[in-house]
Amino acid sequence: MNKSVKDPEKIQSMFSTIAGRYDLLNRVLSLGIDRYWRKLAVRQLKGGPDAHFLDVATGTCDVTLEIIKQCPPGVKVTGVDFSEGMLEFGREKIINAGLQERVNIRFADVTELPFEDGSFDSCIIAFGIRNVQDYKKGISEMARVVKKGGKVVILEFTTAQNKFLKMPYEFYIRRVLPFIGELISGKKGAYKYLPASMLEFPPPEELKMAMEETGLKDVVFNKLTFGITAVHVGTVV
Ligand SMILES: C[S@@+](CC[C@H](N)C(=O)[O-])C[C@H]1O[C@@H](n2cnc3c(N)ncnc32)[C@H](O)[C@@H]1O
Repeated sequence: MNKSVKDPEKIQSMFSTIAGRYDLLNRVLSLGIDRYWRKLAVRQLKGGPDAHFLDVATGTCDVTLEIIKQCPPGVKVTGVDFSEGMLEFGREKIINAGLQERVNIRFADVTELPFEDGSFDSCIIAFGIRNVQDYKKGISEMARVVKKGGKVVILEFTTAQNKFLKMPYEFYIRRVLPFIGELISGKKGAYKYLPASMLEFPPPEELKMAMEETGLKDVVFNKLTFGITAVHVGTVV
């Protein structure tokens, strides 16, 4: 992978630049399917009625809000991200939903999570890990802060393997997506990073191995929507 694509400072400033249009872009570029993907991923979290979950690379907090929607009132969520711009919009959504008592949003880098070992019942990252330069470090940090028996859930794009879909999919990613991204965000070149980060991220089998290397057990993955995305789940032992 071209390292500059994952330069943390560039990633941070790029997300802060597009933050105001991020939710709209997601809905348009995925034709609304992104909500369904998050819903399925959140279902993989494990915890009781008073569980505390960690949403890493929370961005504008869509995963955090989905957790709150699916879980009983005793469940709490901490969301972290390293883009203040994205967090600003996320915090606003949490305040508008009146969820300040149940949700704590803070600045943090996934490769250096500011939490004690075993602080959370389960942890999730959605569409974030492919941006992380040392993504194995990120996964091992997520595993470290989860209690034994808890889950680490990763929702991420994959490269479509289906031979009929591969060409149109890659055309969409390389040509259509940056064009629409630029059009909606009004920021020239803002979405140029996306094709490389999506198409060069390791395939699901390799990501599974990376999760196993960090010590996670019983790692499984499910491809969603013709393999456009995949949900990986590993257990902390
Ligand atoms: C595509 S957005 C996904 C946001 C959200 N999880 C969602 O499902 O919409 C990727 C997010 O990852 C964050 N991110 C990327 N690298 C990170 C890192 N090393 N530490 C923390 N956040 C990171 C970015 O700031 C951005 O908000």
